[in-house]
Amino acid sequence: MDTITDELKKLEEEIKRCRKCPLYKTRTNAVPGEGSTNPKIFFIGEAPGAQEDATGRPFVGAAGKLLTTLLNEIGLSRDEVYITNVIKCRPPGNRDPAKEEVEACRPYLEKQLSLMKPKAIVALGRHAASWLSGYMNRRFRSMTREHGIIFESEILGFKARILFTYHPAAALYNPNLLDSLRKDFEKIKEMISKDRRRGTLEDYL
Ligand code: URA
Repeated sequence: MDTITDELKKLEEEIKRCRKCPLYKTRTNAVPGEGSTNPKIFFIGEAPGAQEDATGRPFVGAAGKLLTTLLNEIGLSRDEVYITNVIKCRPPGNRDPAKEEVEACRPYLEKQLSLMKPKAIVALGRHAASWLSGYMNRRFRSMTREHGIIFESEILGFKARILFTYHPAAALYNPNLLDSLRKDFEKIKEMISKDRRRGTLEDYL
């Protein structure tokens, strides 16, 4: 095994044993994340839901099925990307993650990103977008204003293209959001293509 895979495995084990916040008391399984350790895209969701908690795998419920479809539509499979969440344990009743939970979990996502150094990172939903914005020295305002923009930024000591989009769960019952999500996935395709015109945040201002 190479060092990155080794380190990620160790980190996964640590996450599965984690007791840094009270969510360990109500979880069935912690959900560290899964996929390629040299991913074309690194996806960050919010938190595990019921099915993820039951299986220990990210995005396997209804929202996950939509994510898989959207990936397939742009010619990618789940094993070419990495999928994880801002927090690794399910909040009871799928409530929003609490500040303390996000802080307790912060080192895990930081370490996953620092080890893989993905060139393309996609935030699914506002929780992941806010989390990433903190490292981009900017404030996340709203998904309506910021979805679909390809940012170029240095985070955690490496350079990446970063895009925010709606959470697939929000698009499940909203055809307008699903349409936006599909268009954003077309941008994601552009984001990972080698011949993409180099742009900066200034292009969008
Ligand atoms: N929603 C998320 O944000 N993450 C999952 O893993 C599943 C649903």
